[in-house]
Amino acid sequence: MTIINRTQEHYFMKVLVIGSGGREHALVWKLRQSPLIKKIYVAPGNPGTAAIAENVPIAALDVARLKDFAVKNSITLTVVGPEAPLALGICDLFRTNRLAIFGPSKKAASLEASKVFAKSLMIKYGIPTADYRTFETLDDALRHVKQTKPWFVIKADGLAAGKGVVICRTTDEAITALNLMMTGPEAGRVVIEEFLEGEEASFLAITDGKAIVPLAPAQDHKTIFDGDKGPNTGGMGAYSPARIVTPALEQEIMQTIIRPAINAMHSEYNPFCGVIYAGLMIINGRPKTLEFNARFGDPETQPILMRLDEDLAGLLLLAAQGRLRERPLHWKDNASVCVVMAAEGYPGEVIKGAEITGIGAAESDENVKVFHAGTAMKDGRLVTAGGRVLGVTAQGRDQRAAVDAAYTAVEKIHFKGAQFRRDIGKKALERD
Ligand code: AMP
Ligand code: GLY
Repeated sequence: MTIINRTQEHYFMKVLVIGSGGREHALVWKLRQSPLIKKIYVAPGNPGTAAIAENVPIAALDVARLKDFAVKNSITLTVVGPEAPLALGICDLFRTNRLAIFGPSKKAASLEASKVFAKSLMIKYGIPTADYRTFETLDDALRHVKQTKPWFVIKADGLAAGKGVVICRTTDEAITALNLMMTGPEAGRVVIEEFLEGEEASFLAITDGKAIVPLAPAQDHKTIFDGDKGPNTGGMGAYSPARIVTPALEQEIMQTIIRPAINAMHSEYNPFCGVIYAGLMIINGRPKTLEFNARFGDPETQPILMRLDEDLAGLLLLAAQGRLRERPLHWKDNASVCVVMAAEGYPGEVIKGAEITGIGAAESDENVKVFHAGTAMKDGRLVTAGGRVLGVTAQGRDQRAAVDAAYTAVEKIHFKGAQFRRDIGKKALERD
């Protein structure tokens, strides 16, 4: 199959998107704009994706049923949103069945799924990252923190949906965190690393395992409260471009972080096809890698895709087929901001079932798109059904215009207990 002959190949793609968050709604929204698309299924999707594609009631973790669905429906391309099915080996299963899928193999997804694997790869290939040590036993880890000056960052080895990282300001905090992570049924090894101080940025690139195409840099807002205060969340908002990542810094990130990691995966482990996402700390203008993710970021994908001036379906298909060509992608010469509206209680125990109103009014501005995440339909009403509920995303000629449009839209949306940060994009505005 080729996408070169457009007259024959127009509207040929049947795509399956896996996941149910704001990232997946944004992917479906962008894919739908492609002239190559005939049909999009989303498993399991959310009410936002149901409005523009066909939701299929198969859980993202049910990889065997997803494969059966893709075979039965002659899916041209499957796009995996979240990390959990990657870690289960969904891409290996699909490829064994000769199905094109955009995402890394189980082994390659270890770049995200195992902190220990990622750290040892970074050290071996000289990729800049925080100094660290790995601990297998609680006693050894406790001895280390008692002998070392705080602050520390303690990371559980497995996937923990963003909750496996604890920043400890005192030795006592470290002892408590270690006891939690290294005892009980979920216990496992930990990485303890130096605390890095700087400004974070998210750098994502699409790769077929060899060729790499960077996406526009973005910045996430990890904590629940304004001013980067409070506990970490999955991400409370994001914007793009992130001008802290200058063109020179982007080159440095590609040369010292992204390319060495992809080359190492290719030569030594398992070729990495999909999105490689480096969480970076920019310290005095130089990048260090906090972590790798093996998928699109959420909520970074929302503002990034709003600015992307390319056919996403064609791009992801070429990557899945190993035929990606290195070239700079086209971007709109504007800015985009996503403000996440979260449910009451998030990131702790979430209160669900609150009625959501005002999305239509918010989207009356053509520069605004409200991506659904934790929403559900109940008795004909849209209600909250998860931690991060909506990603209110706007574009504008510059950051100021995008921020203003996003917050004007947020003010029109209501549900009981809604939480959102009021300072999304502030760092970008201060840099102007
Ligand atoms: P990770 O899952 O490794 O990206 O960590 C989640 C968040 O914890 C990051 O986005 C940072 O805000 C913070 N973090 C992780 N590692 C460090 C570090 N070495 N120094 C400072 N903050 C960190
Ligand atoms: N925005 C953080 C993540 O996708 O992991």
